[in-house]
Amino acid sequence: MAASVAGCFFFFFFFAVVLATASSGGSAALVEHTFIVSQMKLNHLCNDTLVTVVNGQLPGPAIEVTEGDSLVVHVVNKSPHGVTIHWHGVKQQLNCWADGAGMITQCPIQPNKNFTYRFDVAGQEGTLWWHAHVTSLRVTVHGALIIRPRSGPDSYPFPKPDKEIPIVIGEWWETDPFELDRRFANSDFADVPRSSTINGKLGDLNTCSGVTEDNYVLEVELGKTYLLRIVNAALHPQYYFKIAGHTFTVVAVDANYVKPYMTDTIVIAAGETVDVLVVAAAAPTGGRYYMVALGIMSLGPLTKTPVFISRGVMSYTANASGKGTSDDTGPIMVPEMPDYRDETMSFYFHGNLTSLRPVPVPGNIDERLLIAVDTGRLCRQGSVPSPPAYCMVTRMNNISFQLPTTTSLLQAYYKKDITMITSLRDFPSRPPPRIVFNRGYTSRGVSVWRVRYNTTVEVVLQGPPTPASYSNPMHLHGHDFFILAQGLGRYNAEKDVYAYNLVDPPVRNMALVPMYGWTVIRFVTTNPGVWFLHCHLAQHVSSGMAMAFVVENGPTTDTTLPPPPADYPSCDDPDDKVGYE
Ligand code: C2O
Repeated sequence: MAASVAGCFFFFFFFAVVLATASSGGSAALVEHTFIVSQMKLNHLCNDTLVTVVNGQLPGPAIEVTEGDSLVVHVVNKSPHGVTIHWHGVKQQLNCWADGAGMITQCPIQPNKNFTYRFDVAGQEGTLWWHAHVTSLRVTVHGALIIRPRSGPDSYPFPKPDKEIPIVIGEWWETDPFELDRRFANSDFADVPRSSTINGKLGDLNTCSGVTEDNYVLEVELGKTYLLRIVNAALHPQYYFKIAGHTFTVVAVDANYVKPYMTDTIVIAAGETVDVLVVAAAAPTGGRYYMVALGIMSLGPLTKTPVFISRGVMSYTANASGKGTSDDTGPIMVPEMPDYRDETMSFYFHGNLTSLRPVPVPGNIDERLLIAVDTGRLCRQGSVPSPPAYCMVTRMNNISFQLPTTTSLLQAYYKKDITMITSLRDFPSRPPPRIVFNRGYTSRGVSVWRVRYNTTVEVVLQGPPTPASYSNPMHLHGHDFFILAQGLGRYNAEKDVYAYNLVDPPVRNMALVPMYGWTVIRFVTTNPGVWFLHCHLAQHVSSGMAMAFVVENGPTTDTTLPPPPADYPSCDDPDDKVGYE
């Protein structure tokens, strides 16, 4: 009964064509998809909710490519809102136009309009994902992006799995994502989802009028090895992920291989991807095992909300020798979960990751940024500050980021007409000297930091080292970076450099700034364009915890951003601002 399609007649077209075969070691292929974005009603917990989805699926279709392939995705917008699709973690070398960040790189694709994203997926392997990048629409507009090695699955730097399975952790909201975004932007952070989800299923902890929601079921065979490609597509927190009776070997994060790391608990923050091997070897045989995704709800305004949780079931079917079938009538084993208010395990999980194939970390730092990520107060004109909101916004270096409204930043910079962007501000390279974390009034602005091509940048991301802190999963578009260190308290330049991992730091597109602490990242600006840096928590990005890097062109044509595609979405249509304030 759960997840049945209700309402009026609904249809969609879906095709995926691989125009040249990408066999082992073969030549690069052109992989083509059509994404029909439309609304449909899904019934969960006794309510019909209108949601926006791709090709009628939630999660949306998983895209599978081989490293080096070219992807062509035709987006057909049959929904009533403007949409963009962001290819989270794809480097988009010299192709910022295809990044899909709403009002940063492009104006949204309007209702009844189409746009085709064309880009290469090169120099990265593992799991990434795609999602809508306007307001909080990504809540239901998302899917996995799987990148396999060019020389075939035998060349995985870990035992070849028997099967690969995407696990998308998400949330089921009954609040419209556009409305949700308006509330976040107006300091109203009270909304919570009805449940977390695993591959779109709410799981059996949810019942309404005697109807229990479906569990995601993973069928396995005794003795086989599974590669779970886990994506955290949720709007809110980090998740603990466990399967009773089983352990994991982490082999990649954010489409970068890591040294095999064994654990029974995965920690995955909003926006992150983690690839893990799990061997179906539960003993004694014959059982069934819950897999649990549990949201981490530490300090802060979310403490009083219900626990975010979904569970699925791992169930054994007979293997080749007829052994190991689960007893479907017996009890299902429950994993012992960490305390959902305790982030300690997240700190160590993130800190324990190291790169499998380390590349030299650039040593000469050209530019240093110290970025304070926290909350401030900003009351809309005429609005009366009243509890519980206290006009709270989020900010970076005391500017609460605001999206441009008339044209995208990339288009304005490309046309060399930044007067098209009102309230443009230079992003300061340090916080104001006397900043008090989570205190004081702040101001809005479209804050950008201009940097020359081929500059080595080190960024210290500093969260509030004070009570009422919260982990912030920061995401940078268009570049992977080294994570050199993380720590608690206030970053100390003299002392903390000694803690840097300059040997085999993990390479990621997500940097989790731990609660009460800081994280240091380093990268080289190798990709001209406008690249968003923001917290991946929906309520933070919508309320200002963001800024944009403007990376200038280099000296040659192959270090210069080419012109936009001919059919680039227009910003002139007055409806272009659908979904924006
Ligand atoms: Cu996955 Cu700018 O986001």
